[in-house]
Amino acid sequence: MAYSPPDPATCALDAFRTSIAERVAATFPSLTFEQVYTGVDYGKKGADFTIALPRFKLGKVEDVAAKVIEQFQPDEYIETISHDKAFLHFQCRSTTVIREILTQVHALTHLAPTPCYGSNTSGEGKKVLIEYSSPNIAKSFHVGHLRSTIIGGFLANLYKACGWEVVSLNYLGDWGTQFGLIATGFEKYGSYEELEKDAIKHLFEVYVKVNKDADADPEVKAEAGRWFKRMEDGDESALKNWRVWRELSVKKYAEEYERLNIKFDVYTGESMVGKEWQDKALARLEEMGLIEDVDGAKIVNLEKWKMGKAVLRKRDGTSIYLTRDIGGAIERYEKYKFDKMIYVVSSQQDLHLSQFFKVLELMEFPWAASLQHINYGLVQGMSTRKGTVVFLDQIIKEAAQVMHEQMQKNEEKYQAVIDPETVSREIGITGVKIQDMAAKRINNYTFNWDRMKSFEGDTGPYLQYAHVRLSSISRKNPHLIPLPPPSQIDTTSLASSSHAREIVFLLGTYPDIVKVALKTQEPSGVVTYAFRLSHAISSAWEVLQVKSEPDLDKARARMWMFECARDVLGAAMRLLSIRPLDRM
Ligand code: ARG
Repeated sequence: MAYSPPDPATCALDAFRTSIAERVAATFPSLTFEQVYTGVDYGKKGADFTIALPRFKLGKVEDVAAKVIEQFQPDEYIETISHDKAFLHFQCRSTTVIREILTQVHALTHLAPTPCYGSNTSGEGKKVLIEYSSPNIAKSFHVGHLRSTIIGGFLANLYKACGWEVVSLNYLGDWGTQFGLIATGFEKYGSYEELEKDAIKHLFEVYVKVNKDADADPEVKAEAGRWFKRMEDGDESALKNWRVWRELSVKKYAEEYERLNIKFDVYTGESMVGKEWQDKALARLEEMGLIEDVDGAKIVNLEKWKMGKAVLRKRDGTSIYLTRDIGGAIERYEKYKFDKMIYVVSSQQDLHLSQFFKVLELMEFPWAASLQHINYGLVQGMSTRKGTVVFLDQIIKEAAQVMHEQMQKNEEKYQAVIDPETVSREIGITGVKIQDMAAKRINNYTFNWDRMKSFEGDTGPYLQYAHVRLSSISRKNPHLIPLPPPSQIDTTSLASSSHAREIVFLLGTYPDIVKVALKTQEPSGVVTYAFRLSHAISSAWEVLQVKSEPDLDKARARMWMFECARDVLGAAMRLLSIRPLDRM
């Protein structure tokens, strides 16, 4: 791992790692602080931190360990040291670790201008464009788009949390021959009234019908081709309806994304890619001898890189998906001068992405190296009870309904819920998101409604429940609020509880969870963390009671710790684009 300097102002545990690294470096003059610091890992065998000695190549590990141990002096940060074969284990002083971490969580959540515990500044001054969701207007919004939406939303939050300037883009499939087809079909099957009601649904219906016609009658296809050509040539009469379709579809999508707690800075689309960039790309590739002319169509030969041949321009001169992506990337660079651009697209399009990245590289754009494809596997089995899912709103509705029915099973609890509609929808969406982000992106997974709605096991509802329970503490203990300022809360009682120590130490690791997520660009580590924390809280719940604790100092310390735990759990959930609930 590369060295990144300690930053105790955002990660309290860095002060403890520093103390460890300083003493080991002081024992061996040949080692720098940086070298040792990089080697301080989270602990093995119950230790807080561990160093694997062989990495320093200092000779016989037993001798090295003995030397460190001999010179060890406990201080306010590190209490004990032990050694086991090639490993040195360190234990943080409980009183300090608890106080420092809780104070930091509290300060960075409640005293900062915006809550920022877990954030860092590693990306300061850098700009990233993240493209995700990108459904096709008039075709179905499949679960692949949902995955892109969820993973992309997470990445946008993650980069922001790491100090990057983020521009999020939704690159709609709003162009291409299929729009010529829909235009042809709209004359026969279209209704403005239906369009107003639900543009996405209506356009899809028209598309399905006219597709059938086209299969039966080649003239329909030819007509569609001519229509699209007129659109590409900028013929306003051919574009008029299309504009309305696009606008209404975007409006409808925006509402659904809002439900999902997903935002875009820019709604762009294939239709918006400037022609000049596509032309330039083609000209440049031609100059480089990479273009073959096959019956008037332009084909780029990428066989040398095992990426096959790809059409860049059709015989009638109209563009295709690949051309638009190439032109679009150039245009985006001109406009945004990004340091990095990410495309969140299904692994089914691996070849397409590598083709267009390759073309940009061949065109010698220095920024081509900063493009990244974040891919992901397939989702199986996500159909609603009525059948296959084609629209995003069906998924959201079904998730809300399934959850609503589940909640109604517990009559008494259900009666106490203030706004069951909203609550069940939020929990349902949480369930869908958690199932999606729980495993590595690249894995395929089978969606399971029963698991989604379950309050048991590592599920979305369980996570929301954990957050709600933590939020209830202050409501249930009015005699303890407001808590005194942190410096006046006596936390010594927490230090003697292994439950409390475990929870607090976990809270302290959150800033590292965020850093690792940025490195792996995987949401799964954050999901795992949220569950570990929830489990630790759940096992402490009975042991560290607040309400029934007669010693007010103890009760306050516990309450403070649980509030900090709620803050961090909430931060992790928000990072995953989940809205944490305070009541259910
Ligand atoms: N609209 C495309 C589809 O649904 C996904 C777009 C992915 N992004 C891109 N720049 N090609 O298949």
